[in-house]
Amino acid sequence: MTADPQEGAALYAQECASCHSQDGPGRGEYRRGENRPRVPALWGADGYSRGAAFYNSQNLAGYIKAHMPFGDPLTLSAQEALDMAVYINDQPRPDGMADQMFCHTEADGIPGALRKPASWLVGCGYPGEPFSDEDILYGPWQPISDWRNAEILRLKALP
Ligand code: HEC
Repeated sequence: MTADPQEGAALYAQECASCHSQDGPGRGEYRRGENRPRVPALWGADGYSRGAAFYNSQNLAGYIKAHMPFGDPLTLSAQEALDMAVYINDQPRPDGMADQMFCHTEADGIPGALRKPASWLVGCGYPGEPFSDEDILYGPWQPISDWRNAEILRLKALP
């Protein structure tokens, strides 16, 4: 599937902003120091970082479809959830550990960048990848995963 962040922006305004507010961290509902945010900020200084699993748009879409809008879950289509996920992940957020997490060569000699989730626009790129930042942000992600998996197999087959 390919995501459309403009659709996502319109849907977010309609379905989510009343609680989460348009720019996070919510309409004063988020309190630092509480054990659990009331309505969590989805971006901005209080939002999750680029190291978070939610920054993988496919994970975020799955959560949104299964749990949001709060109190009315499983009412969005997969496409709607995905469109909102990429819109949310497009917003500014604090820097995390994600770059370091993927910028290494793994024990079997394969660069970690090849094994990052296809929808995860962080970490070092793999040289020669035929995908633009836009492809990686908005999908479809299957061809990216397929290409990376083939590249892993090719590297493993080298003498
Ligand atoms: C009625 C208020 C309300 C609406 C509407 C709502 N949310 Fe939420 N949202 C919440 C609350 C409350 C939580 C915290 C839930 C929890 O901690 O279990 C939450 C949590 C989340 C989280 C998890 C964030 C984190 O860092 O833990 C995401 C992502 C999210 N909402 C996205 C959305 C999206 C996308 C929509 C629109 C489709 C939406 N929400 C609509 C109240 C709402």
